Amino acid sequence: MAAFIEHTRDALELGQDQVVTITRDGVEVTGFDGSPAEGTRYHVDWDLSAAEKDGHDWFMRKEIFEQPSSVAAALLGRHTEDGRLQLDEMRIEDSELREIDRIIVVGCGTAAYAGQVAKYAIEHWTRIPVEVELAHEFRYRDPILTRKTLVVAISQSGETADTLMAIRHARAQQSKVLAICNTNGATIPRESDAVIYTHAGPEIGVASTKGFLTQMVACYLLGLYLAQVRRAMFGDEIASVVRDLEQLPAQVTRVLDNAGQVYDLAEDLLGSKAVLFLGRHAGYPVAMEGALKLKELAYMHAEGFAAGELKHGPIALIEPGLPVFCVVPPRGRDQLHGKMISAIQEIRARGARTIVLAEEGDPAAGDYADTLIELPKVPTLMQPLVAVLPLQLFACELATKMGHDVDQPRNLAKSVTVE
Ligand code: AGP
Repeated sequence: MAAFIEHTRDALELGQDQVVTITRDGVEVTGFDGSPAEGTRYHVDWDLSAAEKDGHDWFMRKEIFEQPSSVAAALLGRHTEDGRLQLDEMRIEDSELREIDRIIVVGCGTAAYAGQVAKYAIEHWTRIPVEVELAHEFRYRDPILTRKTLVVAISQSGETADTLMAIRHARAQQSKVLAICNTNGATIPRESDAVIYTHAGPEIGVASTKGFLTQMVACYLLGLYLAQVRRAMFGDEIASVVRDLEQLPAQVTRVLDNAGQVYDLAEDLLGSKAVLFLGRHAGYPVAMEGALKLKELAYMHAEGFAAGELKHGPIALIEPGLPVFCVVPPRGRDQLHGKMISAIQEIRARGARTIVLAEEGDPAAGDYADTLIELPKVPTLMQPLVAVLPLQLFACELATKMGHDVDQPRNLAKSVTVE
């Protein structure tokens, strides 16, 4: 769309197997057989400046700092004043949503990690079992799909072939498919029963940042909508979570305002041979995403683990000076907080260089931290949206210092349109 929006903002989305004929007298849409057909008209709400870097060195860095407004845009118009959800693009009947007895989230890379975070929230709010599957594995395991299965396809580009093939398989099995996508009119939303657009604006950097944050927001909106439709939560409970979501742009801003500390850390860790990332609960997918950012930008070995997994093998990797990012759950997450602190103590005792991300005022987090990155105090399920930010900044800055092309990392494409 960046190619034409300086000429027009009115666009026509063609359906599958449609033909458009453009003459000076107008535009005609037909099927292959010449029968009249209708495209879907929509208005492009991007602004051209979105395709510029606004003074940043990289599109990725610009997009990291756009995240407060991207989260706000993802929330805009999605709920009433009293916190009731309203999802305009939801073309699956409420009665069908009430019948859903299983949710399978499919996606690749960062999108899959957004789905893993969403699992914690959607299961907690709706009590519907949620599985998260890598899209490229999904159909080859011959999944059990019924009319009561909702497949949620997360894709920033909406063109990822693995994810597209997954939803085609699901629809062939009569399951409902809902797309979570950042690109109006892309193939995956067009082939889905419903869509929640993330409205992050164009994401140019190959490494997804605002795409990830807004995917989580969209998944949360879906979870709350399901809870509302199925009466799994009281209205005031839903409104309370909506208020938490509305606080996020300001909290994201606060974390980004502390970018300098992260940049200093990147300078310190320049030359590291490997970095590990630990998290628990909804912080576990954040650890995985932090590792992916480092792999794809700094081209270095990085691995994310569930902290509880350490003692089952990975702790053997710990050696003196090894940098380990540790995402500590908020203290409100009961006993998990203490277990995470114990894990940090274990690795520090073996010489790890601990970089601890914890909510501000957490008295225990600093005890075993070589570097403490304080996060705003947010509810457990909101923490992924602030904890990932220092990891994005770290990967972007380290790769920059290494002289890499952050926007176009080697071997990678923004949208993987081949299986
Ligand atoms: C994200 O930083 C990666 N570039 C990659 O993992 C990406 O998330 C994945 O290819 C899925 O892309 P999509 O969201 O456009 O489907």
